[in-house]
Amino acid sequence: MTILLQINSGMKGDQSFSSQLADQLAVRLKSANAPIRHIRHDLCDESLPHLNNATFDAFSCSEETLTEEQKALLAPSDRYIDELRHADILILGVPMYNFMIPSTLKCWIDHVTRAGKSFQFTDTGPVGLLEDRQCYICIARGGFSSDGATDLMKNYLRMILNFLGIKNIEFLEIEGLAQAKDTPDLLIKNSLKTAGISILEGA
Ligand SMILES: Cc1cc2nc3c(=O)[nH]c(=O)nc-3n(C[C@H](O)[C@H](O)[C@H](O)COP(=O)(O)O)c2cc1C
Repeated sequence: MTILLQINSGMKGDQSFSSQLADQLAVRLKSANAPIRHIRHDLCDESLPHLNNATFDAFSCSEETLTEEQKALLAPSDRYIDELRHADILILGVPMYNFMIPSTLKCWIDHVTRAGKSFQFTDTGPVGLLEDRQCYICIARGGFSSDGATDLMKNYLRMILNFLGIKNIEFLEIEGLAQAKDTPDLLIKNSLKTAGISILEGA
């Protein structure tokens, strides 16, 4: 069965436009890839702890030597890496906050970027351990960043996912939400159409 992993990071949950774009994409992918198992996270509801020294130390311990306390610290990282490893399709819902990804998504990335689990150091440099798979990144912005100069967010996401081994990345974007003449619904629909996704479900 195909596994679709969706990670939303908008602070407004279902009201976030990035989450709505990601949700509508998921609906269309599900109709095109049935049967599909859909795992969906809203990071704004999950209170994922920031990495701290104790957790980072536990990252480098061998499994046999882990204390119960360390196992508990590693539990979120273990779970998120396991989900990511098994996902055939990955969707990230990503708003732009202060020219960057939300801190909740950075926190998720910090938990899944783990030496020996999702990448490893070799004599020739670091190598991603995750198999490549289709990844869609659904971005919402109040302004416009398509000139690239302020697009740190896309460059960062492409770089970190490539680092882990995920190279097949497609960006879907809705921009100018702060001053849009078109409704968010229409912007979402157009974004799906531009990506060729709408044909999957007559939108
Ligand atoms: C704290 C905060 C910071 C923001 N920073 C930016 C920004 O740097 N650039 C931009 O274009 N829009 C910015 N916006 C507008 C959001 O990108 C816009 O509201 C978008 O819809 C957020 O995505 P969401 O609806 O998925 O939460 C910001 C909004 C908030 C709440």
